[in-house]
Amino acid sequence: MLVFNAISKRIKINSNLTKIIIFYMNCIMEYSTLGRTGLKVSIMGLGCDGPSGIGLRTGKSEDISTEIVKHAVSSGINFIDTAEVYRTEKIVGKAIKDFDRDSLVLSTKKSTWKNIEPKDVIRSFERSLNNLATNYIDIYHLHGVILEDYDYLVAEIVPILQELQDQEKIRFIGITERFNPDPQHNMLQRALEDDIWDVMMVGFNILNQSARERVFKKAIEKKIGILIMFAVRLALSRSERLKQCIDDLIKNKQINPSEINKTNPLGFLIHKGGAINLVDAAYRFCRSEPGTHVILSGTGNLEHLKENLKSILRPPLPQKDIIKLKEIFKNVDSISGQ
Ligand SMILES: NC(=O)c1ccc[n+]([C@@H]2O[C@H](COP(=O)([O-])OP(=O)(O)OC[C@H]3O[C@@H](n4cnc5c(N)ncnc54)[C@H](OP(=O)(O)O)[C@@H]3O)[C@@H](O)[C@H]2O)c1
Repeated sequence: MLVFNAISKRIKINSNLTKIIIFYMNCIMEYSTLGRTGLKVSIMGLGCDGPSGIGLRTGKSEDISTEIVKHAVSSGINFIDTAEVYRTEKIVGKAIKDFDRDSLVLSTKKSTWKNIEPKDVIRSFERSLNNLATNYIDIYHLHGVILEDYDYLVAEIVPILQELQDQEKIRFIGITERFNPDPQHNMLQRALEDDIWDVMMVGFNILNQSARERVFKKAIEKKIGILIMFAVRLALSRSERLKQCIDDLIKNKQINPSEINKTNPLGFLIHKGGAINLVDAAYRFCRSEPGTHVILSGTGNLEHLKENLKSILRPPLPQKDIIKLKEIFKNVDSISGQ
C-alpha cells in the first residue's frame, strides 16, 4: 500500500486509470532519506549524462530518451540527475510534464570549469528552470569542482546559491567532484570541512572504493546526502576496458596480481546466489555501502534500465564476495573506472 501511495502521488490527478495500473504493476521501488535534506528518494536515480546521456550520445532519438525518463519515473524512480551542460534538461522537462512535479527530486548543476562569474550562475540557473519547465530545483550543485577552484567558488558563487535558496528557488545546495582527474577525492575532503553542502555526488565503485574512508565516514557524521556516480561506467560494462584497468592497477602496484585472475578478474562474483552479471554486481555493491542514498544509473537503453531496476532491488551481494572485493581493491585510488 505504501508503494501504491508513493506511486499514485507521482501522477497528476487528471491522468487516466491505465497509467495508474501501469505504474502499480511496474514498480516496487525502495526509498531512502537523503541525509539532512529529509527528502525521500528512490535508491536508484536516473543519471542523464555519462557515456550515454540517456541515449543522446549514443545516437538514439529524442523520443527514445524521453521514453527512458518516463519509464524510470513510472517505475518509481523519483530522483533525476541532469545538468545544464549535459543538454538533457529539456528532455527531462518534456518527459516529466505529465507527472506531479512535487513528487520528483530534480538535481541539476552549474559547471565550474570555465572560471565562472556570479552573473553566469544566475543566467544558467534561469535557463535550467526554463529547460526543466519548473519554478524550483530540489538540489542545485556546483558541478565538477576541483580543489584548486574550491575557495573561489565558496567565496564568490556560494552566496548566490544561498540567495536563491532564500528565495525558495533552490531547496538544497550540492557539490559534485570531477572523478577522472581527482580519483582520490581531494576536493570533497576539503568540502567536508565546511558546513555548506547538503548533498555530495561522489565517484565510487567496485574498483575504486576510496570514498568509503575519505568521504562517507565524515558524510555520515554530518548527515550529508550521498549520490553515487560511476557505479558501472565503462570499466564494469565492457570487458576489454575492465582488463585495461586491471592491467594498469597491477602496473602501478595498487592491486596484488596473486589475488586476481587476470583473464576473468571479477568472474568470482557470478554464481548461484551471487551476481547475475558484472553490471548487476556493480549496482548491488554500491547499494549496500553504508552512507550511500541514491545510486545513479545512466543508460540510453530501455532494456538496460529495466535490468538495472531489478538489480538495485536484489539483496546485497553475498558477504564473502563483498569481503573479497574490499580486500583486492583496498589500496586503489588512482582510477575512476571511466
Ligand atoms: N561530476 C559530475 O557531476 C558527474 C560526472 C559523471 C556522471 N555524473 C552523473 O552520474 C550519472 C551516472 O553516471 P553514468 O551515466 O556514467 O552511469 P553508470 O550507470 O555508472 O554507467 C553508464 C554506462 O554503463 C552502461 N550500462 C548501464 N546499464 C547497463 C546494463 N544493464 N548493461 C550494460 N551496460 C550498461 C551504459 O551504456 P548503455 O547506454 O548501453 O546502457 C553506460 O555506458 C550520470 O548520468 C550523471 O547524471 C555526474
